[in-house]
Amino acid sequence: MDRYLVFGHPVRHSKSPFIHTLFARQTQQELEYGLAEPDVDEFAQALRTFFDQGGKGCNVTVPFKEQAFTLVDCLSPRAKRAGAVNTIKLTDDGVLLGDNTDGAGLVADLKSHGVTLADSRILLLGAGGAARGSLAPLLAELPSELVIANRTHTKAQQLAAEFHDLGPVTAQTYEQLAGPFDLVINSTSASLQGELPPLAPALIHTDIAIYDMMYGASDTAFICWAKQHGARQTMDGLGMLVEQAAEAFTVWRGIRPGTKQVLRELKRNLGVI
Ligand code: ATR
Repeated sequence: MDRYLVFGHPVRHSKSPFIHTLFARQTQQELEYGLAEPDVDEFAQALRTFFDQGGKGCNVTVPFKEQAFTLVDCLSPRAKRAGAVNTIKLTDDGVLLGDNTDGAGLVADLKSHGVTLADSRILLLGAGGAARGSLAPLLAELPSELVIANRTHTKAQQLAAEFHDLGPVTAQTYEQLAGPFDLVINSTSASLQGELPPLAPALIHTDIAIYDMMYGASDTAFICWAKQHGARQTMDGLGMLVEQAAEAFTVWRGIRPGTKQVLRELKRNLGVI
């Protein structure tokens, strides 16, 4: 049977096996999908061993995405732009192709929630790997403006300069931000520590859409905060998780699984509904 897995550390909490097993059942593809948690300095060897032993493809998550970028034989254009790889496919020619489906997953999830990206003013919080991976797919949707704000302003400036050729992207400090924005995307890891990015409450209004790439059994700190200040449309990263997985599955199997039912089952599994 064709073998796939996700590399990460820690990875035991990963929902990818659950999601891909449902995709496989739905599309009647015969495959198995597991987990691998190599030590941080043993990822390269573990990856090689997996493919030497017949593995067909894998996902890569924290903290291995940047390392995977350097280990594959060739890169998709979107992985090259993202500077990170979250999906690897062994092609029929024996080539390890590195791809990145995170940004496409974010855009697909935003669209599935009915969020309009064209001509919109988008505020992206954070300038780490998650922000980098989403910039090209977001700019491809032709927003009127995309502003990056980050605690360490120089990192936002660097990112804006790097993606400037793709669209109207600028960097501003949290203090400089002036609304109204149509959409705020939180790509920071602040919610992981129960912290908030230092965003002025005045930027939140009833018609704004709020997206936090993090997720949990209950609302993230950022979503709680945004709701308190009047945001009516809030979304967490669970949908992005399922959409990036669907995109990876499509890369591997050439068939696109449906995501709605799988997202519902995942929520049930996590106790969210
Ligand atoms: P990822 O790959 O998930 O994006 P990362 O590369 O470590 O993770 O980036 C984390 C991002 O969250 C960074 O933009 C970080 O800001 P700094 O560049 O200033 O470190 C941001 N971040 C983390 N904790 C934060 C907090 N409490 N408030 C604001 N931003 C925070």
